[in-house]
Amino acid sequence: MKYHVIVYGCQMNISDAERVSAVLERLKYKKTSNINEADLIVVTMCSVRQSAVDRIHGLVEKFKTLKKSNPKLKTILTGCILKKDKKIFVNGFDYVVDIKDIKKLPKILEIKKIINQNNYLGIAPKYSSKFSANVPIMTGCNNFCAYCVVPYVREREVSRSAKEIIFEIKNLIKRDYKEIWLLGQNVNSYKNKNTDFPELLKMVNNIPGNFWIRFTSSHPKDFNKKTIDEMAIGEKITPYLNLPIQSGDDKVLKSMNRHYTVENYKNKIKDLRKKIPGIGLSTDIIVVFPGETKKQFGNTAKLFRDVKYDMAYINKYSPRSGTPAAKLKNDVSDVEKKRREKVLTEILKQTALEKNKKLIGKKTIVLINENRDDNYFGKNEHYKTIKVKSDKNILGQLIKVKITEARPFILVGEVINGK
Ligand code: 5AD
Ligand code: SF4
Repeated sequence: MKYHVIVYGCQMNISDAERVSAVLERLKYKKTSNINEADLIVVTMCSVRQSAVDRIHGLVEKFKTLKKSNPKLKTILTGCILKKDKKIFVNGFDYVVDIKDIKKLPKILEIKKIINQNNYLGIAPKYSSKFSANVPIMTGCNNFCAYCVVPYVREREVSRSAKEIIFEIKNLIKRDYKEIWLLGQNVNSYKNKNTDFPELLKMVNNIPGNFWIRFTSSHPKDFNKKTIDEMAIGEKITPYLNLPIQSGDDKVLKSMNRHYTVENYKNKIKDLRKKIPGIGLSTDIIVVFPGETKKQFGNTAKLFRDVKYDMAYINKYSPRSGTPAAKLKNDVSDVEKKRREKVLTEILKQTALEKNKKLIGKKTIVLINENRDDNYFGKNEHYKTIKVKSDKNILGQLIKVKITEARPFILVGEVINGK
């Protein structure tokens, strides 16, 4: 029996799909990248934007055709699904399964095998990469930002035990993994017994080996000084942070229910830059949150000019039914929405290029994660994308590179020491 997995969404969904794969392989299913030869198709969906949900409707149509040539084909929908969408998709899929219930897959597929696991994060995953691993440390969210669907699909925060996390990471390091991503909807509010997020960072940093530690997502209200200090001390914790601001205007932040001000945020950035000079910084932005005025948008543009991000994930606001923001009026025209998005992208391009130019001639370490045509691509410690050429296969290796050329979102380099 062969299965095919389709993953949409964030790193957390990728990580969830790795657990689904592990369960299926225990049931003797074999993975195939060819959807046409699959007996089982699993879709891990995302609900953060409506466009992602619409994609699933497209898949349902495709499945109808596939089922004509393979009537035994079964389809499963899991991941982040809204209650109302569950009701809709039961018609398009054979099974709709809560991600927390994937241990029930044997029963669902009528296979007489029991998987005794009461916590789904405890399932040992089938990692999709041989050098970079996603390790969930918590899931769920208690924050209810006004635009966000996550608290409704993932429910409340649950942290994994530190012991279980450390055990998983130690095993990965034994297998020579080079990069560990600690994942959660809000990693900064990790709490298990007496271990908080900075303490967990310290514990992971103390695991012997040559590897990098990264984490996502952070929330500015919970991202604290203790975490900054731990990042500065921990030599394996990479000098990079994604700190989503969402808007550069205090009033908008308030209606988003974000619980911080632009000033609080900027002070954290200041402290970070003081303690970790040269740290790579990125953010998430929502354009245009309902009711955002030109002046309020101007404050976001100003913040972009002031902070000088290395990268920003600029998301067009997508109304999600059931969230408080969906009830707010949004009377900004599509043309104006596009303009605001463009303004931010242009500022970002300028500031990122300015900063990247200063890196020309500098040496950096890169974890190579992709090989396309003649080129290798990877990310350095600061999470900058770097392109190099190499005659040897350097995929999955930490490589020393000298930067030779700068563009806004990519640096070109040369491999040093023939390595
Ligand atoms: N519309 C647009 N972007 C959203 N995000 C979350 N919800 C929405 C929405 N309804 C963005 C936020 C968050 C990122 C993961 O997705 O910027 O940080
Ligand atoms: Fe959504 Fe806010 Fe929770 Fe992030 S912190 S998952 S944006 S509700």
